[in-house]
Amino acid sequence: MGGAVLVTGGTGTLGRIVVRRAAAEGGEVRLLSRRAAPAAAPQGVRWCTADLVSGEGLDAAMEGVSVVVHCASDPRRPASDLTAVRQLIEAARRVGGVHLVYISIVGVDRLPFGYYRVKRQVEELIEGSGLPWTVLRTTQFHDLPAQVFRALAKLPLVMPVPSGISVQPLAAEEVADRLVALAGGEPAGRVADMGGPRVIPGAEMARGYLRAVGKRRLLLPVPVFGASARGFRQGLHLSPERAVGSGTWEQYLAALKP
Ligand SMILES: NC(=O)c1ccc[n+]([C@@H]2O[C@H](COP(=O)([O-])OP(=O)(O)OC[C@H]3O[C@@H](n4cnc5c(N)ncnc54)[C@H](OP(=O)(O)O)[C@@H]3O)[C@@H](O)[C@H]2O)c1
Repeated sequence: MGGAVLVTGGTGTLGRIVVRRAAAEGGEVRLLSRRAAPAAAPQGVRWCTADLVSGEGLDAAMEGVSVVVHCASDPRRPASDLTAVRQLIEAARRVGGVHLVYISIVGVDRLPFGYYRVKRQVEELIEGSGLPWTVLRTTQFHDLPAQVFRALAKLPLVMPVPSGISVQPLAAEEVADRLVALAGGEPAGRVADMGGPRVIPGAEMARGYLRAVGKRRLLLPVPVFGASARGFRQGLHLSPERAVGSGTWEQYLAALKP
């Protein structure tokens, strides 16, 4: 591999697992975050404080790096992901020959959903960067529907669930393992998508979640409208032909604390 591996978004749901697993492989691992290093930073990892949007701290973080696993994203301000990847590409060019490994989402080229459109544009910028690159698209991690259900379950008595939408949730640990393997290999371009083991109707997932956290709610199917919702109902975010993940929703729920 040569130089260090830099994980952007190394404090996030996925990135923090990538950092841990990459560190376990040996070699120098750096974690990029906007935050200052905590008193107890992950062991064997060099913490680099940098902001991908302003570019502050980025060149120092990139010095001697041969691979970047780009997990940073800000779905609440999607346009900032474009600025961030442009900054990253420029910094990688200054270092020279840096392999960019990017985590994307199944369906970014098919769904007219704002955040997905930006993810596709980020892919295009990486593909056209002239740098060596690898892009992996996956379905949703278990944590995402769990976060949505946690928020929806705050209402008393009823829990609204978008009707007609299924999810194919995937263990973030398995995605992290795949990214670490890709980071250790040759640049591979777009690699095969990764989907969770099973496509599960949203209502079934919601019932499982409520059981796991010991709450009782009446499920309220809510129709959702618009082109994005239609795309999600059609399953354009799913990859049943690539159901390669093994960690199940039920296993994830079993580990949740009520
Ligand atoms: N969640 C899913 O189901 C799913 C499925 C497929 C693909 N993905 C993709 O996987 C990636 C990671 O998702 P996640 O759910 O793990 O994300 P997350 O938990 O929201 O973490 C996002 C990370 O981005 C960092 N970040 C945001 N803005 C930044 C900036 N300006 N400069 C530097 N760092 C910045 C944050 O770090 P600090 O706050 O520490 O700076 C944070 O660690 C995203 O690209 C997402 O699209 C997610």
